[in-house]
Amino acid sequence: MISFENYITPEEYMDLRKMVGWVEFPLEQAKACIDKAYMIQCVRDDEKAIGVVRLLWDGGYIAFLSDVIVDPKYQGQGIGRKLVEASIQKLKEGMKLGYKVKLTLNSAIGKEPFYEKFGFRVRPNEDAGPGMDQWLIFDEE
Ligand SMILES: CC(C)(COP(=O)(O)OP(=O)(O)OC[C@H]1O[C@@H](n2cnc3c(N)ncnc32)[C@H](O)[C@@H]1OP(=O)(O)O)[C@@H](O)C(=O)NCCC(=O)NCCS
Repeated sequence: MISFENYITPEEYMDLRKMVGWVEFPLEQAKACIDKAYMIQCVRDDEKAIGVVRLLWDGGYIAFLSDVIVDPKYQGQGIGRKLVEASIQKLKEGMKLGYKVKLTLNSAIGKEPFYEKFGFRVRPNEDAGPGMDQWLIFDEE
């Protein structure tokens, strides 16, 4: 049975990242990703973790939607939609009258139409340049 929970273990989180081919981290760092998130949701089929989303928010005007992952075997069933909608709802519940929050994300290639369904706009556009990022990797030389 599918359920949506507010907890995930670092191991489960890393397994889901691995499943969709994303970068992995040490478990200590994965734990920080979970503990420091404003909201985390894990989708389970009985006990098995089959999806996740992380919402980061500084309490001010910047929020970041991260790690929207659904196990490929469960994609196309509306689970990704529920994860994104729950994140937006959680953010709205934390906002007070007059608040303005910019919710951003880094779309994986080809997933832009999925996010456009929830009001996200592809960059660059008339108001904003392309998003930019870099990986900082602490490694033995
Ligand atoms: C992107 C992802 C989370 C979507 O999850 P999902 O559970 O398959 O999505 P849903 O079934 O909830 O689909 C919701 C809507 O988005 C649409 N959609 C899903 N993936 C889409 C895509 N790649 N392009 C266009 N539309 C898409 C669905 O058709 C559906 O439309 P509808 O509600 O209007 O009928 C999932 O494909 C995934 O985990 N991919 C691998 C990891 C990844 O790339 N995540 C995004 C990181 S930025």
